[in-house]
Amino acid sequence: MDRAQERERMVAETVAAVRRIEGEQGVTREALMAIRAELLALAARSELFPPEDFPSPADGKENRLYALSIDPDKRFALYLNRGSARKDTPPHNHTTWAVVVGVAGEEHNKIYRRPAGDAAGPMAVAEEITVKPGTGVCLLPDDIHSIHMRGEDPKLHLHMYGKAISEMTERVHYDPETGRGEFYPPHPDTR
Ligand SMILES: [Fe+2]
Repeated sequence: MDRAQERERMVAETVAAVRRIEGEQGVTREALMAIRAELLALAARSELFPPEDFPSPADGKENRLYALSIDPDKRFALYLNRGSARKDTPPHNHTTWAVVVGVAGEEHNKIYRRPAGDAAGPMAVAEEITVKPGTGVCLLPDDIHSIHMRGEDPKLHLHMYGKAISEMTERVHYDPETGRGEFYPPHPDTR
């Protein structure tokens, strides 16, 4: 079996386990921790995700998301993100659950707390996590994070969502100073 076939087999097994966990437990912090454990086991097989199979865009400025598996109904979407040299996203939600784990390199995450209710106001950083091999973050549909990429290439991370990025048509990005939200379009470089 060659590398691509083995990767496909392991991805299919992992996604099957994730479907099962969500089906049995629903979308809870505990379920996302169990999903993270499955994704960490997949990410530990880093020989299946060599940088040459997932090149970064030529300009090196933007990240690129490679779809590894998306269900026909656009649920359970697993991507490999090839990070860029330096990039900062605004704080944003996903309108579905999200789990990110490291295969190679570092992706710094800030997780924010919004003021109670819908009132706008400055957003506090509740937690900071550098996602690298062996670590990961779990986000419920309304949780808000931002991503900050620095340092060594290659940066490869598994990003899994409850639905495909193309379906995230209502996510919001926030100004952390004012807490005001605006429509955040789906990532343009997804393949
Ligand atoms: Fe995100």
